[in-house]
Amino acid sequence: FSPIGEVKRFIDILALHKLNVFHWHLTDDQGWRIEIRRYPALTQTGSVRRGTVVGDHRTSSEYTDEPYGGYYTQDEIREVVAYAAERGIMVIPEIEMPGHAVAALAAYPWLGCAGGPYEVMRTWGVSEDVLCIGKESTLGFLKDVLTEVLELFPSEYIHIGGDEAGKQAWKSCPKCRRRMADEELKNEDELQSYLICRVEKFLNGHGRKLLGWDEIMEGGLAPNATVMVWRGEEGGVRAVKAGHRVVMTPGKFCYLDSYQDAPQFQPEASGGYLPLANVYSYDPVSPAFTEEEAKLIYGVQGNLWAEYIPTDEHYEYMAYPRLLAIAEVAWSEPANKSYPDFRGRVCREIGWLRDRGYHPFPLEQEL
Ligand code: ACM
Ligand code: ZN
Repeated sequence: FSPIGEVKRFIDILALHKLNVFHWHLTDDQGWRIEIRRYPALTQTGSVRRGTVVGDHRTSSEYTDEPYGGYYTQDEIREVVAYAAERGIMVIPEIEMPGHAVAALAAYPWLGCAGGPYEVMRTWGVSEDVLCIGKESTLGFLKDVLTEVLELFPSEYIHIGGDEAGKQAWKSCPKCRRRMADEELKNEDELQSYLICRVEKFLNGHGRKLLGWDEIMEGGLAPNATVMVWRGEEGGVRAVKAGHRVVMTPGKFCYLDSYQDAPQFQPEASGGYLPLANVYSYDPVSPAFTEEEAKLIYGVQGNLWAEYIPTDEHYEYMAYPRLLAIAEVAWSEPANKSYPDFRGRVCREIGWLRDRGYHPFPLEQEL
């Protein structure tokens, strides 16, 4: 969680490099970060976890016993959206459903299949605790939340998450089984699609478009959805061939929470190795596309997940300079790109960032 002063400092850097969308991931298993007036427990309960896993979450069983929390008030959100708009940047909020929603479940256990109790997660990864799609009250909750979200964010797109939802609970939940029978849904993937399609209808009815992670393709893609491709690039090819718009952010090139240099000399990061040169080498437009299809590649995005990024200084270290490579990938013709030229310009830019109090990775020390 970063206070809005830091968020604005980040937006300054986006603006400087023609990065014109700020995708703001506001809800997850480990914290709900946006005030929703109709559901105060989302922030009262859902914004705080009682501790945090120490080290690699796949192997560690050690936790701090220090509460960690934070959320943005609606006034703060408006301030950030206005600040970004003045700089030509659209803020797209992400409200995760039906997975990555444990913080919401902790606040309102009736949203889940089993009814809880749930606890805001202290560790990372994927949870089997997800929203119950069998209950109309879950849909009502999502519409209420999105109604407030739409008032705060004028963006054409609203990101509804959709990634990494555990689907076990739906198999044994009588309400979810009933929904599947009533709607003639063949499996849990189709149950997830059912939810996404209903949410899309709601958003479209309010003049907005639905954006979601590529899992929303499983079980049938909502008719007007835009897909944010994070797993493999082939997901982007499939979505484009089906006539859908796509934002490309594959882990292999765009996950700025990966190691940017030899891991043994770097602060602990999420898995994966992604040095500046690899980010720069990315071409989001697959050669498999016709010219018409290529127009459906709406953009490219860098992702900076913060599980292993405990401080603002640290996220700056992860973001810069790799985010500058994302900007050049987004705006340059591949034929005009030159890594040696880019690297030289980046080294000067790093000095500029340092002069302004940012904490970029010292590229000159790259191994
Ligand atoms: C994701 O990285 N789970 C979208
Ligand atoms: Zn259920």
